Amino acid sequence: MELKILWLNKRDVEKLVNIYDVIPAVEVAFREHGLDRVQMPPKMYLNFKAHNGDLRVMPGYLEGPDIAGVKLVNVHPDNPGRGLPTVMALMVLNSTKTGAPLVVMDATTLTDLRTGAAGGVAAKHLSKEDSKVVGMIGLGRQARTQLQAIKAVRDIEQVKIFDTSKDSVDAFKADMEQKTGMEIIKEPNVHEVCDCDILVTTTPVRSPLVKAGWIKAGTHINAIGADAAGKEELDPMILKKAKVVVDAVAQASHSGEVNVPISKGIFSVDEIYSELGQIVSGRKPGRESDAEITVFDSTGLAIQDIVTADLIYRRAIEKKVGTELELF
Ligand SMILES: NC(=O)c1ccc[n+]([C@@H]2O[C@H](COP(=O)([O-])OP(=O)(O)OC[C@H]3O[C@@H](n4cnc5c(N)ncnc54)[C@H](O)[C@@H]3O)[C@@H](O)[C@H]2O)c1
Repeated sequence: MELKILWLNKRDVEKLVNIYDVIPAVEVAFREHGLDRVQMPPKMYLNFKAHNGDLRVMPGYLEGPDIAGVKLVNVHPDNPGRGLPTVMALMVLNSTKTGAPLVVMDATTLTDLRTGAAGGVAAKHLSKEDSKVVGMIGLGRQARTQLQAIKAVRDIEQVKIFDTSKDSVDAFKADMEQKTGMEIIKEPNVHEVCDCDILVTTTPVRSPLVKAGWIKAGTHINAIGADAAGKEELDPMILKKAKVVVDAVAQASHSGEVNVPISKGIFSVDEIYSELGQIVSGRKPGRESDAEITVFDSTGLAIQDIVTADLIYRRAIEKKVGTELELF
């Protein structure tokens, strides 16, 4: 008996999908989650404290489309100084019928795309329909796909940006003005960026950057950066006055934006309004007034990775992209 698997490297993956393909796929994943048709234990972490990094395992199964897989992903914030991305990932999809591995792919770009797509889905269901101005704090890899996805769901006219690294600011402005054709304005501090309709935070910080008094009524916030215990970007008083929507309660309460305020007793799991999937599947309303402040607390779900990997795999087969490798 012979078994072959398909190997897709970063270039292969980038040829096959873009953010516009991934947004609807990720929306389906959230809907299936909201309808309780997925199996997805919270991600597991190995903490490399001596190296300021961690390694995570993320398994999942979507029963409707009958697709399953596992992602292995690290987060090492000091990596850019070593010439490596902060986040790198490998993804495996398995046959649900036989368990055989079908495809192994680089999932670094996939991670950026599915994280951006989740931000787009959240903005579609939670931001004001007439949102025009996006504010961005932290201008690395995740920020780029967040902006593209938000632009795909809202008629954005202006983008305000801030990052503590001048190089990140200059690179983001040049890159994203060229990619999106939008006006991108460098701001001198976080406070100025917060004067917007949709605020996106994608930093690895462990103490709040955004003060409650800076957030005006009607703002939607995609809180993306906090995805491990101890990480926090927002003043917890923002959560107290906002409609807080998480991607998955079990995961977010241990590793999302709400994790530190919950551990300090400032915020409780009962104060979480909903999971995004419940809103996408119509079980709960999303935004209900123009005055509401809404927060999407994203930690990143295995099912986002699996639907994206499945799309990539199907296209790779169709377009004969990738390399077949002998497993045994
Ligand atoms: N929610 C999710 O699904 C998800 C997915 C991937 C990554 N993440 C998290 O998102 C964060 C960013 O990831 P990335 O891949 O974009 O990293 P990155 O290293 O590419 O970018 C991070 C940016 O934040 C900036 N920054 C750091 N401290 C700052 C501060 N105090 N103020 C303003 N800017 C600051 C850095 O200069 C850098 O430009 C990480 O914490 C990562 O773990 C979340």
